[in-house]
Parts: sequence; C-alpha cells; structure tokens
Amino acid sequence: MTTTTLTKPVSVQTGGEFAVQQPRAVERLVVGQATSDGAGVKLTRVLTHDLQQRLDPFLMLDAFGTDNPDDYIGGFPNHPHRGFETVTYMIAGRMRHRDSAGNEGLLQNGGVQWMTAGRGVIHSELPEQEEGSMEGFQLWLNLAAKDKMTAPWYRDLQSADIPEFTTPEGVTARVIAGASHGVNGAMQREVTEPLYLDLHLEPGARFEQKLPASFNAFVYVYRGEVEIGDTKVPVQRMAILKNTAGSDGVVLRATDRPTRVLIIAGQPLKEPIAQYGPFVMNTQEEIFQAVRDFQSGRFKATA
Ligand code: CO
Repeated sequence: MTTTTLTKPVSVQTGGEFAVQQPRAVERLVVGQATSDGAGVKLTRVLTHDLQQRLDPFLMLDAFGTDNPDDYIGGFPNHPHRGFETVTYMIAGRMRHRDSAGNEGLLQNGGVQWMTAGRGVIHSELPEQEEGSMEGFQLWLNLAAKDKMTAPWYRDLQSADIPEFTTPEGVTARVIAGASHGVNGAMQREVTEPLYLDLHLEPGARFEQKLPASFNAFVYVYRGEVEIGDTKVPVQRMAILKNTAGSDGVVLRATDRPTRVLIIAGQPLKEPIAQYGPFVMNTQEEIFQAVRDFQSGRFKATA
C-alpha cells in the first residue's frame, strides 16, 4: 500500500472488495450531555464516561458548535494530559495551541491536530477569533499500557493534508485516520487501528464501510439524518453499532436532506481504565503518580 497524499477529491468505485455483506445494526442511540469545559466553553459531551468500556479504545468525544462568541471565547487555558491521544477536528473557526515543549500551531477550517500526550504535556487551546462560528470535535483515544509513558508528540494537519474521495453515489469522504475504499487516511496508528471518517452525503446517498466485527464503532450525525438498517439516526445523535459476530461493516444512507456524519471505530485495548480528569492510566497508583508528577512540575521537563 502506498501512502495517499491527495489534496483534491478523487472519484472512487464502490462495491467489489468494498461491499459489505453482513452490515451491523444499531445497538442504541445516545444523546450527548450539555456541559462546559476549559474556561466556560459550551459543548456537548457525546461519548461520556459511562461509555468508555463499551467504546474502548475511545474515552471521550466532545462536539462544539456555536455562533455565539460568549460560548467559546474563554478557550482552554493551560491544562495537562497524560496516557492517551487527543484528536481535534475543526470544522469552522480558528484555535491556537501552545504546549510545554514549545510547540505552537493554528488549527483551522477542516484541519486536525493529533496529539499524543504520552507521559505528559501541558497545553492551551485558545480561539483566535472574536466573532463568527466555531464548530468541531475533540476525540480522546486511549493508549495501550505499554505506550502510556511514551514521549509526547503531535502533528498539525491542514485541511489539504486530509485525503478525500467522492463516490459515484454522491458521498465525499474525508479520511482522517485508517483507510476507506482503498484510500489511506492522514494518520495510521498501530494497536488501536483507529478509523476516523467525516462523510458528506447528498440526500438519499448510500455509503458502505468495511469494519472488523471486533472493532468498537459508532456513528455521530452532525447535519441531516441517516438510516442504518431499520434505525433512523437524527441529527446530534450517536449510534453505537452492534459487534455482531460475522458482521463485516456498516451501511448508511442519508434520508431526504444533505447529511454529515462521523464514523469512528477502533480495536479495543481490553485493559483497565483509571481516569482522573485529564489523566487516563490503568491503575489508581498510576493516577496518583500522574498528579504528583504534575504538581511537582515534571510535565514541563518532558519532550
Ligand atoms: Co487539552
């Protein structure tokens, strides 16, 4: 397989090796919880704490979207992370990030920041606009126990760095991670093998995605509406997909309106999860250690 670095959508064929024979059904629909984080940023927590085991290796998904600057202007001042990865996908708006290792970048319209917190990073994420809309997602992806204390790392992906393709049926797919219809995404990860797709569907358009039955997977609708089997999934709902033995993917179809969805899937780690705020480890002792390391300033020395 070669690495795809497409900057413009290409047309691809569906069917053939990409056809799904045994599609997964929806196990349940989830409504996110309205909350705020950072310095008063209003957001919807779609993947909440109680779903961490079910959707292993994913720990959290926040959706933010507003035209009101009061909802986002405070941003996320300096805060630490340890033990997992954060994937921030900006649909609209501009956010500047800075971290304790001296890195800095601007995340904007259609771009992604992939950050591996590993053994520890302190960073800030602050809006670089005082008006207009701000919309996007932050996903937390767990690290395997053996990788939790790895060196911090991050990569900024501009919108043009994210491979896209368009199907004959009227679906444009942005492949942030993993692979779809033979197109490799901008990021590949071992162990958890995450798939992260942003799909834009014309009314009535259908899309198939192969998925191993062992992968935990969900679909989040952020515009319009889709049908998955017999289940209608309205806007701002997450559909958790069943891990039916023998299933090989998901088939979804937009109803009568333009629709946008995320498909997110990954290989579960099946390891204990111990979380205290921005630290996600395997045991309580490791959490106490993270708090001690942070309080004694050891996060700043990393990287
Ligand atoms: Co953060």
